[in-house]
Amino acid sequence: MYQTAFHKNDISKSSFLVTGGAGFIGSNLVEYLLKYNAGKVRVLDNLSNGFKENIEPFLENPSFEFIEGDITDEATCHNACEGIDFVSHQAALGSVPRSVKNPQASNHANVTGFLNMLVAAKESKIKRFVYASSSSVYGDSPHLPKKEEQIGNQLSPYAVTKRVNELYADVFAKTYQMEILGLRYFNIFGPRQSPTGPYAAAIPLFMAAVLKQEKPFINGDGEQSRDFTFVENAVQANIKALLAPLDQSGNGGVINIAVGGRTTINELFKIIKQSGGSYLDAIYRDERPGDIKHSLADISKAKNLIGYEPTIEIGKGIEITFQWFRKRYFSK
Ligand SMILES: NC(=O)c1ccc[n+]([C@@H]2O[C@H](COP(=O)([O-])OP(=O)(O)OC[C@H]3O[C@@H](n4cnc5c(N)ncnc54)[C@H](O)[C@@H]3O)[C@@H](O)[C@H]2O)c1
Repeated sequence: MYQTAFHKNDISKSSFLVTGGAGFIGSNLVEYLLKYNAGKVRVLDNLSNGFKENIEPFLENPSFEFIEGDITDEATCHNACEGIDFVSHQAALGSVPRSVKNPQASNHANVTGFLNMLVAAKESKIKRFVYASSSSVYGDSPHLPKKEEQIGNQLSPYAVTKRVNELYADVFAKTYQMEILGLRYFNIFGPRQSPTGPYAAAIPLFMAAVLKQEKPFINGDGEQSRDFTFVENAVQANIKALLAPLDQSGNGGVINIAVGGRTTINELFKIIKQSGGSYLDAIYRDERPGDIKHSLADISKAKNLIGYEPTIEIGKGIEITFQWFRKRYFSK
């Protein structure tokens, strides 16, 4: 992966902090930064939902540092930001159902932790702060495709935490003259996304089921649709959001990060089944509370603001992800 560089700048003297860097998206970003010889790449992660295995390949690299720590601890955030130029803040408790079950835990990590990181980044005078928001912010907005300025009411505690991040980001950019940009991710998938635990996402769950010849569950009738986005596109977005010149009119704002295509869960399962050579059907069960029916992004703001241009569509992304899954979990 990452055969194409998404940046033109020399990053050999720049230092990066990736919070949540032992998680799925964060570890992919770390892989990219080290591949292109970033001066320093520091990860801050409490391993609550990430894995040491995800950063194992980087531990020998002298440019890599790992801090096992929690973003809800102010001092840890300050230490992590020391000597850093660019922050990519990915650490959070993901998942709508997790937040429905335990809203306080999601708020603590996603809001208190986020605010701690913003304050630490401000005090360390970092050059730019890029953070992960979510398409869940669109909530009950009926508009399709989703445009950044047309949000509805959030439908879950998780979505509220991400909306609060956006509000803080805007205020910090204006009040403290910081450079900040939020990325509203739309269903990112790819290598290192975990198929385990009660809050695993659909693509790794389907892949694991197909490889084990088991029937996966589909929530609702499967006709809900999503703008599934391969992780390499999300890494491109992070790199460009961190390094591209940022127009002041975009500072403090958010941009959609997706492909701009829509696939239903039924179609997705069919692609994964075909790719894995399975004939098993899914088991349908009740819809999940807090879920939105359709999601499709307008990505023109990201194109205009940072030159984001997704390069890998869903079919190719599924192929790469399947290969990785087979190797990591099923090669004996
Ligand atoms: N994957 C998606 O489709 C998607 C969609 C929208 C938004 N997001 C957001 O993108 C970011 C990355 O998501 P991901 O899919 O890589 O999730 P992930 O769970 O794989 O990664 C998140 C990482 O953050 C770490 N973390 C959680 N709480 C922490 C804390 N208090 N202190 C330190 N580290 C902590 C976890 O251990 C984990 O390694 C998250 O902010 C998530 O909400 C992801």
